[in-house]
Amino acid sequence: MAEKRTRSISGRLMMMNILVSGIALLLACAGFFTYDQITFRQSLVRTLSAQAQIIASNSVSAILFNDPQAATTTLSALKSFSNISSAGILRSDGKPLAQYSAAGQKPLVTLPQLPKGGGEAHWFGTKHLLLIRQIVSQGKSIGLVYLRADLHEINQRLKRYATITISVLLISLLAALLVSGAFRKSVAQPIVQLANTAQEVSREKDYSVRASTIADNEEVRVLVTSFNQMLQEIQQRDSELQQAHDKLEQRVSDRTRELVSANKELEAFSYSVSHDLRGPLDAINGFAYLMLKQYSANLDPQGRNLIEQIRSGGKRMTELIDDLLNLSRITSSVMHSAKVDLSTIARSIMEELCRTAPERKVQFTTSENEEAFGDPHLLQIVMENLLRNSWKYTSHHQEAHIEFGHTRAEGKTVFFVKDDGSGFDPRWADRLFHPFQRLHSSVEFPGNGIGLATVRRIIQRHGGEVWAQGEIEKGATFYFTLNLPDKNV
Ligand SMILES: Nc1ncnc2c1ncn2[C@@H]1O[C@H](COP(=O)(O)OP(=O)(O)OP(=O)(O)O)[C@@H](O)[C@H]1O
Ligand SMILES: [Mg+2]
Repeated sequence: MAEKRTRSISGRLMMMNILVSGIALLLACAGFFTYDQITFRQSLVRTLSAQAQIIASNSVSAILFNDPQAATTTLSALKSFSNISSAGILRSDGKPLAQYSAAGQKPLVTLPQLPKGGGEAHWFGTKHLLLIRQIVSQGKSIGLVYLRADLHEINQRLKRYATITISVLLISLLAALLVSGAFRKSVAQPIVQLANTAQEVSREKDYSVRASTIADNEEVRVLVTSFNQMLQEIQQRDSELQQAHDKLEQRVSDRTRELVSANKELEAFSYSVSHDLRGPLDAINGFAYLMLKQYSANLDPQGRNLIEQIRSGGKRMTELIDDLLNLSRITSSVMHSAKVDLSTIARSIMEELCRTAPERKVQFTTSENEEAFGDPHLLQIVMENLLRNSWKYTSHHQEAHIEFGHTRAEGKTVFFVKDDGSGFDPRWADRLFHPFQRLHSSVEFPGNGIGLATVRRIIQRHGGEVWAQGEIEKGATFYFTLNLPDKNV
């Protein structure tokens, strides 16, 4: 590629040199040749005219005395002029008095007419120049003299010029080659080097390279220097950008570390608080139980009722604390990934639910082999929470349908659990996944509001997402994706 470019620039320079010098030379040769042709022809006409004049004046008496011998002698003087191929002296009636022709040439048979009033005229042919002149005696035309000159010499000159022009052109071509060789070094080479450097920079993204500034030519030097300055600026900006990027990375990783440690602290704190609360709570529950068992005879019904309230409150609090402990265990437990058959899990959960309330008319459907990669224990918790919710929130309906399956969205498998139960107000769809957020009253549907928060944590640990769609009294659908690679994590 670079080689091609080198050839191209220097080739162009060479072509330019050859073209410019060749055209200039051709034009000069053509001008010179045209000028030479014109002057040569003019001088030929002049010489021929002078000779015709001499012959005309020398042949007056020969015509007047009808002396062909004298006329022939006059014409024989032309022998010394090698370019005269034929000549003749004609009487006024057009009959030739004497004729001359050089060796191998023939005298002219017919002559063109002299223009009216013209004493002399000439005609250029391809090979000959013909000149005719009147022979005048005492103001009267008594005959004609014609001279025919060979143009062989002109053609010879033409050939000589062509040979000289071709030789000069060849020499100038050679000179152009030598000159362009020198130019290539001073002009083309630095430009080619510049192009190579530019290519290297864009290929390697290495802004530290510089183009060589050694150039005889001022413009090329300016070009190379500006290019290098540009590289310098890009390199500087690049390193500033890199530094800013590194700083940002550092800050992000610092913050992430801080957040992770704060989160861990918070979880540890909530775990220990929940754990520590269990002790006093167990004491309250235990003593309330003992009080009811051993001292119920000493209490009036209102007293007994109050202790019952303490017991049920304590029981509920124990449940809440257990849920909280489970939630924090889910975040901190070690994950083991394996292939999990979600269809089988869903079916066994539904079977168990149906056993607990055989009177309910719930139709459950699931597609076969809904497989996923994830922690089997944690995915079991996800399926339990979602299916138990569907079971619970369809319980007010006479008949219910619950479905587990998958669809595809943006090239991903999206699992779903769908029911036609009480549904919920879609405006609060996001709230459901926060701990203790409930959209139904505990009287209507009992619960702690921790199930979906647990589901979300588990799905997030699997790199997936979970979301809900629903409408009041038109059912709800819970979607989730799992993003674990198909191998152990
Ligand atoms: N299938 C469903 N249909 C309608 N609403 C639902 C459904 N599943 C969950 N919800 C709503 O989302 C809220 C949160 O659900 P979540 O499972 O977290 O809590 P819960 O079921 O009330 O209690 P628990 O902690 O025992 O699961 C529920 O109170 C309910 O309002
Ligand atoms: Mg629930």
